[in-house]
Amino acid sequence: MSADINSRYGLNPAHSEVVKTGEIVAPCKALDMGCSNGRNALYLSQLGFNVTAVDNNPDAINMLRQIVSEERIDNIEALVYDINDAALSGDYGLIACTVTLMFLNPMRVDAVIENMQSHTLPGGYNLIVCAMNTNEHPCPVPFPFTFKTEQLRDAYKGWELLKYNEDLGTMHNGAQLQFATMLARKPSQ
Ligand SMILES: C[S@@+](CC[C@H](N)C(=O)[O-])C[C@H]1O[C@@H](n2cnc3c(N)ncnc32)[C@H](O)[C@@H]1O
Repeated sequence: MSADINSRYGLNPAHSEVVKTGEIVAPCKALDMGCSNGRNALYLSQLGFNVTAVDNNPDAINMLRQIVSEERIDNIEALVYDINDAALSGDYGLIACTVTLMFLNPMRVDAVIENMQSHTLPGGYNLIVCAMNTNEHPCPVPFPFTFKTEQLRDAYKGWELLKYNEDLGTMHNGAQLQFATMLARKPSQ
């Protein structure tokens, strides 16, 4: 399974929220936004998703392409793409964007989310995990973008929220910050 592929290539296991999403969402056409070298894309592909994986780091995309080639994986397409462009092509049953929005241009995040939403098929899903900066827990990392309390929920008005929390997490160095974690389903029509 993917854990074997991931460890064979020195990759971490898939993000825990991607694993949970894979238990809820049936295999479909999926987009992994900010895929890095593919820990989540590889996991989803092993579950039978047809994955487009994008990142603006060409080295990460090249490494993922190499794994795809060596493993003869036929359901991952890895592409260099700047998420700030908010110019997706194609529609997806699942768009996953884990720990990536916080690296974007804050002036582009609204457009990026609208672009994700409009390229999600009716009844399809968006998974987002992103750092927050709140009065209770100021973000200790100078990310370009962070969510405010309830900001992500407000952006998904009209969608069914299968999961939404703003729980406290701990970084490797012990610093604590909140993360907005959401799995949302677009209305079927
Ligand atoms: C912390 S990593 C998260 C990787 C992956 N989503 C995961 O859960 O392991 C953030 C990724 O976002 C990518 N990234 C940052 N800004 C980007 C942008 N403007 N367009 C595309 N990818 C971007 C980085 O290159 C990096 O691979």
